[in-house]
Amino acid sequence: MDDRGTFPHFMIKEIFEQPRAVRDTAMGRVDPNTGRVKLEGVHLRAEDFEKFRKIRIAASGTSRHAGIAGRYMIQELAGIPVDVEHASEFEYGNPITGPDELTIVITQSGETADTLGALRLAKTRGSHTLALSNVVDSTIGLEADAVIYTHAGPEISIASTKAFDAQLAALFLLAVYLGEMRQTLTAEQSKYWISELLAIPDKIQSVLTRDPECSALAERFYKYDDFLFIGRGVHFPIALDGALKMKETSYIHAEGYPSGEIKHGPYAMIDEKLPVVAIATRDKSDAGAVERQQRTLNNLKEIKQHGGHVIAIGTEGDQEIEDYADYVVYVPPAPDLLSPLLEIVPLQLLAYHIAVRRGVDVDRPRNLVKSVTSE
Ligand code: F6R
Repeated sequence: MDDRGTFPHFMIKEIFEQPRAVRDTAMGRVDPNTGRVKLEGVHLRAEDFEKFRKIRIAASGTSRHAGIAGRYMIQELAGIPVDVEHASEFEYGNPITGPDELTIVITQSGETADTLGALRLAKTRGSHTLALSNVVDSTIGLEADAVIYTHAGPEISIASTKAFDAQLAALFLLAVYLGEMRQTLTAEQSKYWISELLAIPDKIQSVLTRDPECSALAERFYKYDDFLFIGRGVHFPIALDGALKMKETSYIHAEGYPSGEIKHGPYAMIDEKLPVVAIATRDKSDAGAVERQQRTLNNLKEIKQHGGHVIAIGTEGDQEIEDYADYVVYVPPAPDLLSPLLEIVPLQLLAYHIAVRRGVDVDRPRNLVKSVTSE
């Protein structure tokens, strides 16, 4: 038996390691009594954090999806404008940057050529740089001005799962840290956000108990050729990553879209052959989040009128969603900004179980490598 232990594949083992990955990434960096965040590898001065006018995030694949979620976190908690770019496109945009900007690169392996290229170009242009890397002493970690290591542990499966959730946790920590430095968060607010982050690993554990439900959904849907994933706001990048997991592990064509955007074209595709997976969680305490969910439910109503099958990711206690979806997988309630750390888990499980049923070599899908070191 190898390191998979009792699991048949690394991918499912790594999905189940997510409570620990998130806990290890947060622990030791926060003081739960005060809500203060300490980021050891961040060798940038407090004055720098106060003066950044803008943040650019460059990353590839799943790491870029984490970056999009990070954009919502940083803008909301620290009030700094954030742009997110494909690392492979970074140079073509002739990035106009300088010492009043921070460029963040996000990477599991720390060796992705496109991401390294973006980091080097940002440095050449005078930007401060910060890397989020899962591999200690990787090239990207060493070349950036500062580094925050995610503590997901080695990720073997080509499809990234636990590294993604750890990246989301690290970006959330960074958002609170920036909020503290720039005083957009009070001490009480920081304490609240940190206590909610620390509650996430147990909530992921509870989502994992829904593995049999995800497996049953896989049994129902594994023969379909196309999937559409939708989400709004901070949940949109989760739709993107759900679609990417489906593509790379199952070889099923899947697209991730912002829920509000499907009226502008993809609606034409909706019929009984295109299952729609919708992130439709609700944070009852947040009026904006409730309104966002309501809009997504309106989309679902129309999708069902057009004959589509709807699989929704909902919040425990929110039965209303069953009127709009054919199947619901529930996750525990969490603040809107942290809910993505839970929502991604059933999507990973669905992709995994579909891949297994389609006979794909899940840990090593065709044509892919774990670390993409060519441009
Ligand atoms: C998808 C996946 C890839 C990587 C991408 C970037 O599951 O694993 O999309 O996220 O190749 O790799 P890193 O994060 O190592 O820079």
